[in-house]
Amino acid sequence: MRTILVASSKGGAGKSTLSTSLAAHFAVDGKRTVLVDADKQHSSTRWCEKRAHLDTAVLPIDGTVKNWQKQIPENTQVVIIDSPAGAMGDDLDPYIELADAVLVPVLPSMIDIEATVPFLNSMAKNARVKKKKLPIGLVSNRLKPWTNASQQAVEQLKSWPYSVVGELRDTQAYVLMVALGKSVFDYNSEQLRSHQEDWAPILKWLKKVI
Ligand SMILES: Nc1ncnc2c1ncn2[C@@H]1O[C@H](COP(=O)(O)OP(=O)(O)OP(=O)(O)O)[C@@H](O)[C@H]1O
Ligand SMILES: [Mg+2]
Repeated sequence: MRTILVASSKGGAGKSTLSTSLAAHFAVDGKRTVLVDADKQHSSTRWCEKRAHLDTAVLPIDGTVKNWQKQIPENTQVVIIDSPAGAMGDDLDPYIELADAVLVPVLPSMIDIEATVPFLNSMAKNARVKKKKLPIGLVSNRLKPWTNASQQAVEQLKSWPYSVVGELRDTQAYVLMVALGKSVFDYNSEQLRSHQEDWAPILKWLKKVI
């Protein structure tokens, strides 16, 4: 079983969008996939419910209740954990314990980048992160690559001690798909090809580290 934690204390950075997209990717790839929803808003749970009828369904587990770990079926191959806004490193301990890798979405603005620094510092205190036993990858999310702000933000992120493992464009595709319980991985269309390609470096990094 491989577990990927998607986390950032910053609200609205794209945790649920990344979590649901990743879960769909693994489910479409034929893996028995679970999405642990550690956020009381339960956006990811609703997304799972909307695709419950598909062959590529993802099992939602409420990660806010006691002993949530025991509800993960033994034959699960991939676990994605969607975490709540406001949670710092310590708050995430039970989820970090299970994680093989952490993805941290960051929006391309100074406010978001600066707000993510204390979160990363709190993660850096974790023993496994300290020992470099838990890889952390940043994902620049909602990029508008043609804008100066996006380009500057990407440059700024690249100077950090954590690697930027992917860049996802700002596109209504994510907004529309999540509302339907779908993802960019559920369709084989020319229009979505470039968005699927955005994921290639992230998936390659995950393959290498977990
Ligand atoms: N790449 C993207 N392109 C366009 N819209 C996006 C993208 N990523 C996320 N969004 C939108 O931004 C908003 C916030 O995204 P999301 O809910 O995934 O963030 P979050 O970090 O889970 O938020 P919260 O902290 O409230 O849990 C949503 O409306 C989502 O549809
Ligand atoms: Mg969320």
